[in-house]
Amino acid sequence: MENFENVTYLNHPLIQHKISILRNKETGTNEFRQLVEEIAMLEGFEALNDLPLEDVEVETPIEKCMTPMIAGRKLAIVPILRAGLGMVEGILALVPSAKVGHIGLYRDEVTFEPHEYYCKLPNPIEERTIVVCDPMLATGGSAVDAITMIKKRGGKNIKFMCIIAAPDGVKRLHEAHPDVQIYVGHLDRCLNENAYICPGLGDAGDRIFGTK
Ligand code: PRP
Ligand code: URA
Repeated sequence: MENFENVTYLNHPLIQHKISILRNKETGTNEFRQLVEEIAMLEGFEALNDLPLEDVEVETPIEKCMTPMIAGRKLAIVPILRAGLGMVEGILALVPSAKVGHIGLYRDEVTFEPHEYYCKLPNPIEERTIVVCDPMLATGGSAVDAITMIKKRGGKNIKFMCIIAAPDGVKRLHEAHPDVQIYVGHLDRCLNENAYICPGLGDAGDRIFGTK
């Protein structure tokens, strides 16, 4: 797999350990949902390490001082429905003041191409740093379309965060949106004939919501 400079693989042992539990088909809905949230928080810690700071004056019990706080650009978290919803609380735990948009896409079971059914973003979106989240980057079709939809509405500073990616998906997303920083929990081997990630974790939406 080629190395793209806009792609970060999050090799932290805690992330890898939790992803391994997610993969296990015996892991139930409750634990699965909890782990997706925790991994999103750990990934968010890394993905947000370039948030700008500004010094503000604070009075401690001892004296006044200038001390750094997050400045300027505000954050928008945009999950791709449904499975991306599972990551939102983990990122919100880091930045509780973030606004949350939603993009609804489902993959056609035959063509694997995404179909849009919903889009509602914080307004105005231009000034915000936008974190698009979805646990699975498989063919990359859903992520590419979601980011195209956000750009059409004025979004500029966009990051994409996933838990498991296939090489095809990383390449397609990088080629379509080279300006977007991509954060990947684990890069898996390949896609199977149904465009599922191998070894992957199965259908993320079904496992988070207990459907099927
Ligand atoms: C899954 C997943 C991604 C998409 C990834 O969603 O959550 O959105 O597939 O596949 P791609 O990279 O090939 O586009 P799905 O369409 O199954 O919808 P769901 O979350 O509602 O189950
Ligand atoms: N969507 C999923 O939920 N899992 C995959 O492996 C591929 C797409």
